[in-house]
Amino acid sequence: MDIQFTRRENAEWDFIDSLMAFNSINIGPKLKQDYANIVERRKATIKSAKDVGQIINDAPIYKFASFFERHNHAMMFDTTLDIVGERADEVLAWLDDDNKSGALGSLDLNPDVGVPDYYDRIEIHTQPGSYHGSPYAGLMYHWMIGPFLVHRDDKDGMGWALANAVPRKPYTSVLDMGCGIGKSTFPYCDLFPDAEVTGIDYAAPMLKYGHKFAEERQKKVHFSQRLAEDTGYDDESFDLIVALWLFHEIPNPVADAVVKEAYRLLKPGGVFALMEGPPFKELEENHSPLSAFMLDSTGKRMSDPYLPGFFKRDRVEMISNGGFETAYDKAVSRTLATEDSGAKNFFGPYPWWVSIGEKAG
Ligand SMILES: C[S@@+](CC[C@H](N)C(=O)[O-])C[C@H]1O[C@@H](n2cnc3c(N)ncnc32)[C@H](O)[C@@H]1O
Repeated sequence: MDIQFTRRENAEWDFIDSLMAFNSINIGPKLKQDYANIVERRKATIKSAKDVGQIINDAPIYKFASFFERHNHAMMFDTTLDIVGERADEVLAWLDDDNKSGALGSLDLNPDVGVPDYYDRIEIHTQPGSYHGSPYAGLMYHWMIGPFLVHRDDKDGMGWALANAVPRKPYTSVLDMGCGIGKSTFPYCDLFPDAEVTGIDYAAPMLKYGHKFAEERQKKVHFSQRLAEDTGYDDESFDLIVALWLFHEIPNPVADAVVKEAYRLLKPGGVFALMEGPPFKELEENHSPLSAFMLDSTGKRMSDPYLPGFFKRDRVEMISNGGFETAYDKAVSRTLATEDSGAKNFFGPYPWWVSIGEKAG
């Protein structure tokens, strides 16, 4: 939706955008440098995120970075709600104008899906109302993700990273679990133009925005309100199932149920693939324990309560336990627009981590 900002709103938004960039591009490296200095001064041996916490929790730069991150997000969401609130009627009417004749894709909502009890009392990554409690959730997510990722994902680079890592086969039916506003779904419309592409999410406001966004971007996606762990689709309905940034937001037992559901939904020879950051063990041993610490602590700071539990898991084991005959992890280099190796990312440099399950043919 094209919202014309006033001069004042433009200034407010530019300010927030710059603060977010400052967090990632300036505070992140400064934190890394101060941390290295403390390690050097104390001659500390660092092997794990826990070791990092013991030396950095009291460091002024870490306290400042934590404060900055939280308040920056709060200011961003508040400003979004102020700007949208000024145009509430117009925005709500636009969102409600769905399934128009001539639409490429479709929107299918089912209020019976409700809110899973594991999201009852949290506002995920501090988003007001979470994904389900505000009619503007999709718009808030979209406006957040640009500044948060310093516009590195404006061209859906993360979705493309997962899509390009999937074993190449002539897929005809693709399901994106936890599709949100569709950014992770769109690459499949381009890669497999003859495939039927479906995105599911438990949260209606995300899907409503996703549907409008997809139509604007000329992507044919069928959005449907369903739980990833209990979709209600028939056995063997899809030949490719993907999930981007879903697994760190659900409790481990639910993640296990999602993998089993994916196995049930796949045709023989079908593929399941999810992408997240690398597990803590991988970060600690092969990249940077500081990155593991930053991810672990952001779960606590930013109301992402299931993140630490998921990052501790062995994902190959999780996928094998879900029934997949073949399971493996694949490191994928970060090729987001304007991104270097990730060195300037607040969370540090590391590859994306794709975990794949293949159902026997
Ligand atoms: C971090 S967002 C990622 C969205 C999208 N995959 C992307 O990369 O842009 C996670 C999404 O998963 C959805 N979600 C969380 N738990 C879910 C569940 N159990 N079933 C279906 N969707 C879920 C949320 O509503 C949210 O839209």
